[in-house]
Amino acid sequence: MQYLKYVYKLTPEEFYKFLADYQKGVEVLQEGESFIEFAVYEPLQNFKPVDVLKVDILPPEKAYRPVRIKNLMVVPDWIKPVVIRQGVAFGTGLHPTTKLCLYMLQRFMKGGWSVLDVGTGTGILAIASKRLGAGRVVAIDTDPQAVEECKHNCKENCVEVECINMSPENVAESFDLLVANLELEIFKRLMPVLTGLYKRVAIFSGLYGEEELKQFLTLTPHEPVKIKKLENWYSVVLRA
Ligand SMILES: C[S@@+](CC[C@H](N)C(=O)[O-])C[C@H]1O[C@@H](n2cnc3c(N)ncnc32)[C@H](O)[C@@H]1O
Repeated sequence: MQYLKYVYKLTPEEFYKFLADYQKGVEVLQEGESFIEFAVYEPLQNFKPVDVLKVDILPPEKAYRPVRIKNLMVVPDWIKPVVIRQGVAFGTGLHPTTKLCLYMLQRFMKGGWSVLDVGTGTGILAIASKRLGAGRVVAIDTDPQAVEECKHNCKENCVEVECINMSPENVAESFDLLVANLELEIFKRLMPVLTGLYKRVAIFSGLYGEEELKQFLTLTPHEPVKIKKLENWYSVVLRA
């Protein structure tokens, strides 16, 4: 039997926006700075395919993709699930600032790295880091309720994360990777402290609009290795 494979080429921004709503798997074929080429096995309503191919093999996404039966979700083993309780803390994964961090973690974090998550909220980024193969993960937040949520979610996900009620000024060591989804005013105050807390890569998120991005970039002498925008929110990756 033959199947039709539809190839699309979108800007990264269009692609991640599309992906956030698309319930099925996609096959990424090529990724450049300004485009992502991917294939799906059905025509998409809002985009025009750059190619339509006939293939003989049933795609894995079609054969086995996440399936929900009432409250039960069955996922293929290549999907890395993060379970988050909708509680009092920020961080369900729906907000663009969190999505950008989740993207950057997958792109820049290496297996075994130590990670510091500053402003952990629900613990979503700390848990995702563990799922992606991080070594030691420390998650801090100045809000004690967030720390309790983080502990709850880490237990639910069976991952070992040190969730601590602490501000970054009191962290006495440095980590391979720092991730901080905060806001410009906090970065203005804490940038010298945060800069001392990572050895390799830092992911900053929570910057709204070009003006905030511009102001953020004045806080560091380092050239960003990646800037990514989603719904007018920006995330910046710096190397030490
Ligand atoms: C936007 S939420 C991010 C939550 C989660 N990391 C995410 O990406 O969805 C920011 C979190 O930072 C915490 N926070 C604010 N100022 C902080 C500071 N100076 N030090 C540590 N945490 C802080 C807040 O309590 C809040 O939980």
